[in-house]
Amino acid sequence: MAFQLPELGYAYDALEPHIDARTMEIHHSKHHNGYTTKLNGAVAGTELEGKSIEDILSNLDMSNGAVRNNGGGFYNHSLFWTVMNPEDRGYLSGELKDAIEAEFGSKEAFIDTFSNAAATQFGSGWAWLCVLPGGKVEVCSTPNQDNPLMPGVTCGGTPILGLDVWEHAYYLNYQNRRPDYIDAFFKVINWNEVERRYAAAK
Ligand SMILES: [Fe+2]
Repeated sequence: MAFQLPELGYAYDALEPHIDARTMEIHHSKHHNGYTTKLNGAVAGTELEGKSIEDILSNLDMSNGAVRNNGGGFYNHSLFWTVMNPEDRGYLSGELKDAIEAEFGSKEAFIDTFSNAAATQFGSGWAWLCVLPGGKVEVCSTPNQDNPLMPGVTCGGTPILGLDVWEHAYYLNYQNRRPDYIDAFFKVINWNEVERRYAAAK
């Protein structure tokens, strides 16, 4: 079964005014769709065909550029859409709140750390909140479409929150103002989903 472009689960304009509809439409229907199509082409007829994306990325030969870039792009965006929600955002609570406060001291300090990772990732990439075995959390960033599942990447663990800082994610609305886009992201985070991912991964 080939990889399928996932539905957003909400309308392209649902995250307005924080993330504009035109950006969302191009990002999902062009960029994410492109990664999905190219991933399917890259695994077709190889030993990777039919494996889960998590399995493929966790055991990836990092010299396989087509799967690294397009498999990363497929996985990263699939996570990204789910950690934003226009309506049912919830709030930071429960075990995830405890883990974040244990690591960073407070929610505000976590936001500062995550925002700094996103702002200082040079060029294209992602900022992540990851869970290590046992439940400890960490923040990191990766270039291009790399992610923490991949071998040898600076951060390990399972990503439960990710922010796309490629210019295609914000340039139409924010131009070069990446920090404004990062601030906007925190207004649309779906904490219920991040907490669900934390519980599943820890
Ligand atoms: Fe993107």
